[in-house]
Amino acid sequence: MSNPLQTTNEFVEVFSDIAALARAAAQRFVLLAKEAVALRGVFTVSLSGGSTPKSLYTLMATDPDLRVSIPWPEIHFFFGDERHVSPDNTESNSRMANEAMFQRLSPYGTNVHRINTEQPDAAQAASEYQDDLAEFFNSHRLLVAGVPRFDLIFLGMGPDGHTASLFPHTSALHETDRWMVANWVEKFKAYRITMTFPVLNNAAEVILCVAGFEKASMVREVLERTAHAPQYPVQMVQPSNGIKRWMLDKAAASQLTK
Ligand code: 6PG
Repeated sequence: MSNPLQTTNEFVEVFSDIAALARAAAQRFVLLAKEAVALRGVFTVSLSGGSTPKSLYTLMATDPDLRVSIPWPEIHFFFGDERHVSPDNTESNSRMANEAMFQRLSPYGTNVHRINTEQPDAAQAASEYQDDLAEFFNSHRLLVAGVPRFDLIFLGMGPDGHTASLFPHTSALHETDRWMVANWVEKFKAYRITMTFPVLNNAAEVILCVAGFEKASMVREVLERTAHAPQYPVQMVQPSNGIKRWMLDKAAASQLTK
């Protein structure tokens, strides 16, 4: 389906269900990981949270063919956002990824850069994570224009058009310098720690995994909107030198007209 605003670096793929979406996303992950490791000896990926990616993370860790073909020791996993809760909290994205994937990979070494949400000051936790990003990406010479360039960033989308923890009408949407910020989200009456657009838009590839009927209205809004419509956070993801790839299930794509 074409999108009047879709640029040549934006692609939309629709899959029969979330299982097929997860498999396609996993296969893309393997391809990108092998390419990056062959070229630079390392693959950097930022994980999204919420519920959609659980099946993807579980598949990568448990499907025998996928598990054995992923170069786990050469991959560095980061998080695009995190709730400001302890790592054992059921709301924690780190806990979700650990239960779905990392704790199933015990024979393999995995490099997981968790956001230190035990730090009671959310802004301090964001700043510490930015330091982690700076140290890693600088030491591996993976900064581009002074900003980390991820090989792959997974993102999701909420029905309100948020992505990562960049919610509509929040201050983090306007951040142009810092890579990680603590973003106050009024509807949760809580801080979220999130990557900002400077990092998201510096990625080589961003994959948005979006599933479920509850997303269909916003998917149509953002992919088929007229130029005059309001811009939602997910539309502000515009990799300057990279690919934006939507991976949708049929339910999320059910209101698309093209
Ligand atoms: C989070 C995510 C968030 C998520 C969307 C979709 O911390 O919740 O980073 O951006 O991707 O809210 O969530 P679901 O996959 O649960 O619908």
